[in-house]
Amino acid sequence: MVMEYSKEGHANQVTMNAISSAGTITPISTTCTLILLSLSLLASPRPAGAFSIRSPHAGAAAVAGRERISLNAGWRFSRFTSNPDSLSYSTLKQWILPSANDFISGSKRQRPSGTPPGNNVNYTQTSFDDSAWEAINLPHDWAIKGPFNAPGVSGGMGRLPSNGVGWYRRKMALTSDDIDAGRSIFLDIDGAMSYAAVWLNGNLVGGWPYGYNSFRLDLTPYAKAGDNMLAIRVDNALDSSRWYPGAGIYRNVWLVKVDATHVGQYGTYITTPTVSSQSATLNLVVEVENKRTTSQSVDVATEVYELDPTTRKPRGAVVATFPKATADIAAGVKKAVNGSVTVKTPLLWGPPPAQKPNLYIAITTLSANGGAIDTYETVFGIRSIAYDADKGVLINGQEVYVQGAAFNVRASERQLGMLQEMGSNALRTSHNPPAPEFLDIADRLGFMVLDEIFDCWNNQKTTNDFHLIFADWSEPDLRSFIRRDRNHPSVIAWSVGNEVSEQSGVAGGTTSQMLKDIAHSEDPRPVTVAMNNAGSSSAIAKVLDIIGLNYQGEGRGTSTSSTFPSFHQAFPNKMIWSSESSSAVSTRGTYIFPVASGNNAVVGGASAGGNPTAMYVSAYELYATSWGSSPDKVFAAQDTYPYVAGEFVWTGWDYIGEPTPYDSARSSYFGIIDLAGFKKDRFYLYQSRWRSEFPMAHILPHWTWPERVGQVTPVHVFSSGDEAELFVNGKSAGRQKKAQYTYRFRWDNITYAPGDLRVVTYKNGAQWAVDTKRTVGDAKALNMAADHSTISGDDLSFITVAVVDNNGDTVPRANNTITFSISGPGKVVSTDNGDPTDMTVFPSLTRKAFNGLALAIVRANAGASGKITVSAAANGLAGAQVTLQAG
Ligand code: GAL
Repeated sequence: MVMEYSKEGHANQVTMNAISSAGTITPISTTCTLILLSLSLLASPRPAGAFSIRSPHAGAAAVAGRERISLNAGWRFSRFTSNPDSLSYSTLKQWILPSANDFISGSKRQRPSGTPPGNNVNYTQTSFDDSAWEAINLPHDWAIKGPFNAPGVSGGMGRLPSNGVGWYRRKMALTSDDIDAGRSIFLDIDGAMSYAAVWLNGNLVGGWPYGYNSFRLDLTPYAKAGDNMLAIRVDNALDSSRWYPGAGIYRNVWLVKVDATHVGQYGTYITTPTVSSQSATLNLVVEVENKRTTSQSVDVATEVYELDPTTRKPRGAVVATFPKATADIAAGVKKAVNGSVTVKTPLLWGPPPAQKPNLYIAITTLSANGGAIDTYETVFGIRSIAYDADKGVLINGQEVYVQGAAFNVRASERQLGMLQEMGSNALRTSHNPPAPEFLDIADRLGFMVLDEIFDCWNNQKTTNDFHLIFADWSEPDLRSFIRRDRNHPSVIAWSVGNEVSEQSGVAGGTTSQMLKDIAHSEDPRPVTVAMNNAGSSSAIAKVLDIIGLNYQGEGRGTSTSSTFPSFHQAFPNKMIWSSESSSAVSTRGTYIFPVASGNNAVVGGASAGGNPTAMYVSAYELYATSWGSSPDKVFAAQDTYPYVAGEFVWTGWDYIGEPTPYDSARSSYFGIIDLAGFKKDRFYLYQSRWRSEFPMAHILPHWTWPERVGQVTPVHVFSSGDEAELFVNGKSAGRQKKAQYTYRFRWDNITYAPGDLRVVTYKNGAQWAVDTKRTVGDAKALNMAADHSTISGDDLSFITVAVVDNNGDTVPRANNTITFSISGPGKVVSTDNGDPTDMTVFPSLTRKAFNGLALAIVRANAGASGKITVSAAANGLAGAQVTLQAG
């Protein structure tokens, strides 16, 4: 992992292009969850990740005594819009706080004596008849299936019914061997929204309030042989978030059974203090936990292999073996065992395209009395990283400009794959811990991750957000987050806050110092906060290892006054990046006239790119919020201040909630890619800059404007070339060179007439890339294309439907109503179209096309094989079908 860390005062190096992933949840549910999956996860920045099951995370695998069993199947669920049980966080708090004891440095929290609350509530009892409750599998998000416009839920929170109390119940079998052998039985929940409290057999075990964090509870004291009843309560207040938070147990849940002496939770930590292409030193800490009532002597052995990224299993022979260590662990304690080894000619981890994201796996075996008692796997990467105030981020000595954006495993693979196609190499998990699998994918694809945990500290942003529990939970949440994520080579920095209101005052300095100290006691990677209001003389700026600026670097709105210089001057040894940039807004395929003449405008009415009635924003990609900037303006600032290490764009994907500038809509306008996963024009603007060696050209708008014949209709082109010539119906409209600080070619005086547009671009004088657009005829048929034609397990296939004319060209403003049907062993789990105003519920099989396109997400039935046929029909159009193979 991290090798060199540049502390304040050292000049190291690096740069980037990144994207913010609105750190939020993206729930998945049995059926509709997937949707989110795909929609929001995918969709966004905001989603931090829901998943479907699959790939165990580091430290999984049922080997040598350790079993990690999915508890996702077979739950009963009920949601209550008013409190059904008189429980609340305040009644449960004293019993829940001790669940954090492994993650606090001060004195441990004591569980009160007496009968815990809820032990008498009927939902926690084995005898309770839950047969009338809904049968569900996890991950589950009760709100995602809608309907929209839920009473009391704000536009910011996405208008879906995420509020209320949810109860989940299931039986869980343990064997008499489990109990008689004194094994430890743990419940691992990757994320439950929110205020989770857990009962086993009518006994309150503990809980964890922060819905984005992963947590473990020790079930052992309450476990028995045979059936055990697990009951989990979650509680979501209104006004608890600035975006759609999801609702319920929206990530995976695991039962871990291990010998009473075992590798602890997040119990390995691998660092790589020296790295070169010839050799790398690996330092390993293994934390062994002895839950026996007697001391135990264990041998600790660890072997390192290359990782096969597809199977997440070792590939080939052992590449390094840590010296075997023997440790005597007293009863009831944890003990760290350290080791060090050299790997010759290591395969380094680094971001593509210049580098490869190679990974390794360390397999740790604990043995006692000559027999293996626990085996634990840790996936990691070998790389050096440095943070340079003038050059930005350096990975393995190479400068990497940060090009960042913001996640079901398949769904997030699709999301991240598209971001990579655009040239993005970094992700910010704005503003909360992502699902564990998100980082596995980032490691594998070679993204750099700014791993972020909080959107607020002690001061609120919304009435019921994390500020209510920050004092009690910030330390354990931060420690457990870092211990979970620190073996991931993709994580290049920790962000402990976003636009917190304390930033510009005294508390900005003291709270950031407190969080930084905690973070550094767990891991040396730099700590930052995304600052939109702090200045270079604010106390917080002195504390942070990386200066993260939101919007102020490029200047807010129409201002170009930049704070990069004042921070650079005040902190000449600290790296600066735009932790958040742009907040440009647009609606895919929608063009509004007239078009702003400058390179940036604040979105407004029709003359400023907006349509408040229809609630759409023009996709000329010049419009942004009053605190934001178009991509063009951000690029100009980056070229003016080359020491800036890169940016995290708000946002990679649209997400549910925060529908600025039109609060009555359902989803955001910020995405470079829309909620359904269709590319907006902006995708090509980023690609033209972030993949400057990839020959591409992209014309906008579409060229089917029967109502604009004879009217001025500007034509803009995004290209990685440096010169371009536009031909309108075969006639040149002029050849242009890209001027300094401009990032698009524009012909603003073209008069529309039906026909065709063709652009020829050049680079260094040679022809580079071409693009064409032609006037399209009437809608005649549907076309369907699946991104995956074979699906198994919980894989998804994303099927795009286009409304086309006789030539097969997409009809740019078609909004025909499409009805999906399916035969064979699969299900259409969600449909969408990317329209921020479409309140049709995600599971609906009828969906209007939006600007020519619609999406259906199909999942194969568990364990099924055979042919799945998905059909789409629309009145007056020839229908279409696509065949998938399950299994
Ligand atoms: C930022 C904030 C983000 C998001 C964005 C929308 O100021 O950090 O969470 O709200 O504005 O433009």
